[in-house]
Amino acid sequence: MSTLLEMSGVSVSFDGFKAINNLSFQIAEPEMRAIIGPNGAGKTTFMDIITGKTKPDEGRVIFGEKSISLLGMSESKIAKVGVGRKFQKPTVFEAQTVRENFALALKNPRGPFDVLRHRKTKNGAQRIEELAERVGLIDELPRLSGELSHGQKQWLEIGMLLAQSPRLLLVDEPAAGMTPAEREKTTDILVNAAKTHAVVVVEHDMEFVRRLNCKVTVLNEGSVLAEGTLDHVTQNPEVIDVYLGR
Ligand SMILES: Nc1ncnc2c1ncn2[C@@H]1O[C@H](COP(=O)(O)OP(=O)(O)O)[C@@H](O)[C@H]1O
Ligand SMILES: [Mg+2]
Repeated sequence: MSTLLEMSGVSVSFDGFKAINNLSFQIAEPEMRAIIGPNGAGKTTFMDIITGKTKPDEGRVIFGEKSISLLGMSESKIAKVGVGRKFQKPTVFEAQTVRENFALALKNPRGPFDVLRHRKTKNGAQRIEELAERVGLIDELPRLSGELSHGQKQWLEIGMLLAQSPRLLLVDEPAAGMTPAEREKTTDILVNAAKTHAVVVVEHDMEFVRRLNCKVTVLNEGSVLAEGTLDHVTQNPEVIDVYLGR
């Protein structure tokens, strides 16, 4: 297990307001990490910085064993080097079947290495079934994606991201709008993905975070307030004060 992403001394201001303030963060590969914190803490902005959507005013963001800087790379280049992001609203092709959606995702591998690795070992149909299995949609392959439940669409999108073989997967508030059963299944999918990938999950649902069973980083006012096991951080008086005790 070695460090995959390292952020250090990162700050971002929006109109003079410091949304991210001297933030440092590291994640290994593979690793599961949960990020919690009050609204406005900078959680989404943190993901925007990693994916290149927002450029920090200062600091470093280093990725991979060659320690390449993600700063100055375009969003598409960052995706190509291995950062995948799942947004709250699923962006699946509703008029296509689940199988077609997976096939589309597999058609756009993120790099030449990826193409070679997969084409040599498995054909498209096998890859699609393997992905569908990983996200619990094996029985839904012939269905139109528009007919899926909200939770199933989210899983399809996670599967489509996995099709791109990202090394780091960023997931912002996956449990929003899901039933308890869907939430439980989503944690299983993410926990499984984190066996082979670095996965960062931002989530407010504490039951969900508990099921991820991982190190937790608490963000507040753009900085790390506490880090450790969920039990450790939720007993921290400052964390209780700014987040849990509201
Ligand atoms: N593009 C932007 N322009 C101006 N302010 C922003 C922008 N993005 C985020 N902010 C502000 O930065 C702070 C952090 O926001 P955000 O990262 O969305 O927090 P979180 O996801 O933790 O709720 C908030 O005060 C928000 O209003
Ligand atoms: Mg947010």
